[in-house]
Amino acid sequence: MSKMADTMMRHGEAQRIALTLNGRERSGFCEPRELLSDFIRHELGATGTHVGCEHGVCGACTLQVDGVAARSCLMLAVQAEGRHVDTVEGLAPDQTLGDLQQAFQRHHALQCGFCTAGILMSCADYLRRVPDPSEEQVREMLSGHICRCTGYTPIVAAVLDVAARRRAEASAKEVEHA
Ligand code: FES
Ligand code: FES
Repeated sequence: MSKMADTMMRHGEAQRIALTLNGRERSGFCEPRELLSDFIRHELGATGTHVGCEHGVCGACTLQVDGVAARSCLMLAVQAEGRHVDTVEGLAPDQTLGDLQQAFQRHHALQCGFCTAGILMSCADYLRRVPDPSEEQVREMLSGHICRCTGYTPIVAAVLDVAARRRAEASAKEVEHA
């Protein structure tokens, strides 16, 4: 069987889409009705994004599309054509933990970790928009995520901690450059 025929058999009515995943140009085949979450995991191999409820409730599948947190189980893969998609893998490109992840580690803000990738992606987006959130605001933001292990308190503490550290670093830089 020719390579082309083999590809067509494996992919059926699939179409090829291209996007930027964690800063790298990627492409792959997806069926017209395939969810972005399945495409990212199974076709592109970015399995850090988890899938729980598959109907927009638990938040486990949250990633960022063009810098904005989005539930990948509520998007079709074809809708991501040409867009910038970031997943939890992109938070630690050099195999080191980013500051948000380090804060989660410090505060023991995860147990089984199933919810964590989605929560991290929401928090990363949120803290860019709201650098000085109150505890109430953080809890409100987290209300879009279900964590059955932690009771949320350590997650809130981690988010407030990293926000405070970022603000302190920004102030120190301002003083340095004054
Ligand atoms: S798997 Fe997408 S919100 Fe639950
Ligand atoms: S750490 Fe287990 S569901 Fe959140």
